[in-house]
Amino acid sequence: MMKKKFLVGIAATSALALGLTACGGSNRGGSEAGESGSTEGARIGVAMPTQQSERWIADGENVQAQLEELGYEVDLQFANDDIPTQISQIENMINGGAEALIIASIDGTTLTSVLDTAEAQDIPVIAYDRLINGSDTVDYYTTFDNEQVGVQQATSLLTGLGVLDENGEETGEEGPYNVELFAGSPDDNNATFFWNGAMSVLQPYLDSGVLNVPSGQVDFEQAAILRWLPDTAQDRMEDLLTIGGGETVDGVLSPYDGLSIGIISALTSGGYSADDLPIVTGQDAEVGSVQSIIAGEQYSTIFKDVRELGERAVTMVDSIINGEEVEVNDTETYDNGEIVVPSYLLESTIVTVDNYEEVLVDSGYYTADEL
Ligand code: BGC
Repeated sequence: MMKKKFLVGIAATSALALGLTACGGSNRGGSEAGESGSTEGARIGVAMPTQQSERWIADGENVQAQLEELGYEVDLQFANDDIPTQISQIENMINGGAEALIIASIDGTTLTSVLDTAEAQDIPVIAYDRLINGSDTVDYYTTFDNEQVGVQQATSLLTGLGVLDENGEETGEEGPYNVELFAGSPDDNNATFFWNGAMSVLQPYLDSGVLNVPSGQVDFEQAAILRWLPDTAQDRMEDLLTIGGGETVDGVLSPYDGLSIGIISALTSGGYSADDLPIVTGQDAEVGSVQSIIAGEQYSTIFKDVRELGERAVTMVDSIINGEEVEVNDTETYDNGEIVVPSYLLESTIVTVDNYEEVLVDSGYYTADEL
């Protein structure tokens, strides 16, 4: 049965940039804290997938700091990419009196039952960065424009190869260029968005023969790396070099910096040197990969400012708890199989050696020393 705990009232007329507004149609989550108008001491559960990747550590710490700033108590947990661990952490948050949950899922389809428990106790749920699928108990979603992230990854691959110039215009270079394709974890809803966005850019060049995939592996299922594991990507890249019959690889579409590191290791072991490494993309602007970009190894990454994402999630929680309107800017894209989850999408930026200082250092995301 379709169900909506918060009525979505569209207060603005046009899409993304303007921001739509969802109206708190129930007092769910507006319990003690909301009624008194004070958030002091209200407990918020924050479930993050893993500490194996810097970005999720930064996400967790940002969300925690921003909630604490507003006077909330925070129960922050990382699940070591283990689904049963994440489920039991969320159960503990509920039992511990959480008044709202912010969840970055490992596998977006595995939380239905524990979220039913949250719903029975009127605890609002925000899906953080990754959509929670198959549950009508997700109130709001905040993320980046994930399809656009994929478009940016593919665009930077083409720019690095020289097929496009820095303005995104075709240069007339016709290759053919040999590329291999990687996708993210098939149980992460974002992975398909990244892939579809990237393929929308690459497919015409694959069709026209400007791009060629020596391994012949062009399906998402073949390209996907379960749990986004760098070692799995490294093993697959080693296999692809063999399957590709020794043809020189000019570019690799990689959807995440951790995978890019594994891919570059495989390429280096396979005989490529820093001077002739293929164009390798990425995502998240993790320190190791930005350093690799500066060293001329990885070509690009996609910067997603998790400070903004954290702020958005915290604002959503704070609005719900205080019975205020929740701002969203997308009410169409994220259908989780049960409901279309009202979402707030943020924008991402392509980073290369040419703009990393401006985007990452000048914005205060990293200090020059860290890089
Ligand atoms: C996130 C990406 C991240 C990937 C691996 C995705 O859900 O959106 O930013 O690279 O997970 O952690």
